[in-house]
Amino acid sequence: MGSPQMPSRRFLPFTVEKVSDEEEERLKAAGFLGYGDLVRTDPSSVRLRPGYARLAETYYNFEFRPDDTVLLSFPKSGTTWMSEALWAMRNLGRLEEADEVAIDDRLFFLDSDFLLPITAGDDTPAMKKFARACPEGRVEDGVTLQMTAAHKGPRILKTHLQLELLNPDLLNTSKVVYIARNPKDVCVSYFHHCRKNTRLNFKGDFSDFAEAFMANQLLFEPFWDHVVQAWMRRSHENLHFMFFEDMKRDAHGELRKLATFLELDLSDEDVHRVADHCSFGQMRAREERQSEGRGPLYNVPGFFHKGEIGGWKSVASPELIDRFDNWILDNNCGIDIPFRYE
Ligand code: A3P
Repeated sequence: MGSPQMPSRRFLPFTVEKVSDEEEERLKAAGFLGYGDLVRTDPSSVRLRPGYARLAETYYNFEFRPDDTVLLSFPKSGTTWMSEALWAMRNLGRLEEADEVAIDDRLFFLDSDFLLPITAGDDTPAMKKFARACPEGRVEDGVTLQMTAAHKGPRILKTHLQLELLNPDLLNTSKVVYIARNPKDVCVSYFHHCRKNTRLNFKGDFSDFAEAFMANQLLFEPFWDHVVQAWMRRSHENLHFMFFEDMKRDAHGELRKLATFLELDLSDEDVHRVADHCSFGQMRAREERQSEGRGPLYNVPGFFHKGEIGGWKSVASPELIDRFDNWILDNNCGIDIPFRYE
């Protein structure tokens, strides 16, 4: 008998290169001070942080498992909300742990390895945890990627990488949840995020931001490719496609559908507990308590802004709304993702 077959490593069907100096200069001039050295994939032009280039093949070959739950989203679409909901559904017996441990430390945020990479030799709790979990591991091969691979499971994983940058076997292997939000509110939420986040350090105004968003120049863009790749596969039995706006309208009903998809036997009371646990008020209060004393990642308190639908109306001029509407028409034409804007 031969030894068990190791899956063969796939070659990347795309390359990763630096964005042009001209684009970088234009972004800087528009106020994107934290956007140096971005890379882009070719084809598709997905904008990512430079550390992605070295790890692209590892991401593409990352092995998912049948007992994984994988959360995918474009940034600012309700990822943290759904992370908390997924974690709560799987950990109903110990919800109080959420008061002590930040959500990204209760699941695996795969993108950390290029968004907030740890440097070899850092004397931090994260580095110590890595050394314990992966004694043979090398920081440059991705700390979170290796810790995730070393975990016995079941695992909850989240990433903003679009489907085509991930292992093509993902949907045939694991349960995948995709959360989408209307692009106008995503853009406004992303704008506030980039202003508050000291690494992204955006100093321009909303119209500059919206122009860059519509030109697909922001991290993890293009927005439409991201959503469309999941939308086109929405009838796959392992994909559960959700909308932020539906969660706002009826969190209980949406969580009930999610539990059914995950094959979790939850009572009505359980679903109420999950909805309550991940309500806006509870999540914001938890985050504010936990961010006390943490590094200055945000220059004003709070990752959470308002968590509402339709915020774009108060920040965009009528001309900009017009341009945005045309951009949506051009991109959603024939695909017709039923986004709701109010
Ligand atoms: P706003 O910036 O509009 O407030 P992500 O986690 O993908 O980055 O998305 C962040 C957005 O989701 C933020 O939107 C945040 O306030 C909102 N959000 C997070 N938890 C929420 C909740 N429980 N209810 C409503 N919105 C929530």
